Amino acid sequence: MSPGAATGGGSALGVDVGGSGIKAAPVDLAAGAFAAERVRVETPQPSTPAAVAAVVADLLARFPEHADVPVGVTFPAVVQHGITRTAANVDRSWIGTDAETLFSEAAGRPVVVVNDADAAGYAETAFGAAKGVRGVVLVTTLGTGIGSALVVDGTLVPNTELGHLEIGGHDAEKKAADSARERDDLSWAHWAKRLQRYYSHVEDLLWPDLIVVGGGVSKKHEKFLPLLDLRTPIVPAQLRNDAGIIGAACLAAAAARSAR
Ligand code: BGC
Repeated sequence: MSPGAATGGGSALGVDVGGSGIKAAPVDLAAGAFAAERVRVETPQPSTPAAVAAVVADLLARFPEHADVPVGVTFPAVVQHGITRTAANVDRSWIGTDAETLFSEAAGRPVVVVNDADAAGYAETAFGAAKGVRGVVLVTTLGTGIGSALVVDGTLVPNTELGHLEIGGHDAEKKAADSARERDDLSWAHWAKRLQRYYSHVEDLLWPDLIVVGGGVSKKHEKFLPLLDLRTPIVPAQLRNDAGIIGAACLAAAAARSAR
């Protein structure tokens, strides 16, 4: 699937499942933008598969005029062919869950489930900071964890999980995610040192043509991106917190088209 294929027009629903909130909106696929106002509810605690599926079904039902469009849901874990394989920052009962079947049954309609960073990366490639960029694009999201999406000439390589590189004996996201900055009360300069170490390592392994930095903290990019010294151009994401919903909707629409 290439982003070009995702922009065929029409609409799809996107749902972004996160640790604190679950957000949904219909997406105009040609514009790469919300077609109606986004709805957000708190993530149920504990965030078990059954509890989250019930919330997702409820959110989808709030858009009756989009009852027949494709649905894409993001999830903050490895999602291999609809099955959630890891649970770094979510309830461990998700490991091995057939999330695609679970959500589809709860919603009474087909649902495509993708990794959250993959969805965001796909959207940034189709409509945002990496639009039209050829070659190897790495999109990272800095939040509770570090998410990664690798897009090569417009094609997504799913589940790269580069937030879990081991650097200096540590899981990278435990030191360099935005949650680490908050937890350790780091100055921007101190956090940038950790980001420098992380992104230097990543660029030495992948040699990307462009790195895009997303996640909520990317709206404060001027506080830390200018402090980084990398050979790869590194830019803030443009779609920010909308990227997951937009990317999930696009990926679901592309999957629906290729299934026809
Ligand atoms: C998870 C990834 C996810 C990222 C951002 C990581 O801990 O392993 O699957 O994309 O957090 O939510």
